[in-house]
Amino acid sequence: MRLGGRGHIDPILAGLKAVLDHHLERGSAGPLGEADRLDGQTCLLTGPSSGLGRVLAGELARRGARLILACRAGHQGLAEELQRESGNREISQRPLDLADLSSVLALCDGLARDGVRLDRVVSNAGVAPARNRLTADGFCELFQVNFLGSFVLLHRLLQDGTLPGRSPAGGATPRILITSSESHRQAPPIDFERFGHFPEFSLLSGTTWYGHSKLYVQTFACELGRRLMRGGRPAVGVFSYCPGAFRSRISREAGLAGKLMTSFFIDPRKAVWPAVYCAVSPALEGRSQLYLYLRHEAQPDARAAAPANGARLWERSLALLASRGLRLDPLPPADA
Ligand SMILES: NC(=O)c1ccc[n+]([C@@H]2O[C@H](COP(=O)([O-])OP(=O)(O)OC[C@H]3O[C@@H](n4cnc5c(N)ncnc54)[C@H](OP(=O)(O)O)[C@@H]3O)[C@@H](O)[C@H]2O)c1
Repeated sequence: MRLGGRGHIDPILAGLKAVLDHHLERGSAGPLGEADRLDGQTCLLTGPSSGLGRVLAGELARRGARLILACRAGHQGLAEELQRESGNREISQRPLDLADLSSVLALCDGLARDGVRLDRVVSNAGVAPARNRLTADGFCELFQVNFLGSFVLLHRLLQDGTLPGRSPAGGATPRILITSSESHRQAPPIDFERFGHFPEFSLLSGTTWYGHSKLYVQTFACELGRRLMRGGRPAVGVFSYCPGAFRSRISREAGLAGKLMTSFFIDPRKAVWPAVYCAVSPALEGRSQLYLYLRHEAQPDARAAAPANGARLWERSLALLASRGLRLDPLPPADA
């Protein structure tokens, strides 16, 4: 089913297709059992206060992870709540506001100062505002929260060694998980000459620009996977997934229309499967650059997968940040 021509996403058609896809899904990625656990593994999760992230936090906690919840102000007591629910005492909370790059840097500084070593990072936080708003840093909120803030976060965690690559001596490969969306397929292309520019949009056209932000996200996921290959195997595995359409607070600005539409969507406890699978499945050891839609492996849109676009996205992001006085050290070169 078409969602409108490429470059425009009709929210009603997109929602209907998502509901249908869930019904038709037969799942082929692999088994996920209760024995698949994360005992002793340290996981950082963004957006754990609501929706998919809240359910995923519960799953990671229940499966024994040492869990760091990275969330905005106003969620005091979330770590304790999850401790009570899961019986796992190793859950802590650190502040993160992706709309404020100084907050992203402060989180990375704090983790490095405390000598934290991560085994999993889940970049899950996201927004779908009803209009184009600027952050205090002067970027479109959709662009900064969904993409640029996570770019800085993951780049710094890798650069600082807080998320170390797999040891040459062996051992398990650390993993990065990125919550993407199928909406990236129909979105308008990235204009590299006006990198990060989003036009004015309304509630109806917001879905198109949300999809556009996810095209940035998915292009980043593909490029990150390529850049983290060393000697033919991943130093860090990069996994992205679209969990399908599920009920959450993301459409909170869409009012009654949003409530009505999303009432047909699935429960986040069902939607969380690909994220849990990517975090825990032993079958994914040594794998990377994998994109899941619902429960099956899929190919991201060709524009997101194109190495030339990934390289440009990376360079433009670094240049944009440098123009604001934020210089990130280059990561070690990937395989040729
Ligand atoms: N819902 C769907 O149908 C659907 C489909 C495909 C993909 N996704 C993706 O799934 C992910 C989770 O979304 P959701 O649907 O579960 O929505 P949600 O219930 O609104 O949860 C979003 C999470 O992101 C956090 N967040 C928002 N702005 C932030 C900021 N500036 N800094 C740090 N954290 C921030 C929220 O924190 P607060 O509680 O403080 O707001 C919340 O924890 C997103 O990446 C979304 O794009 C959703």
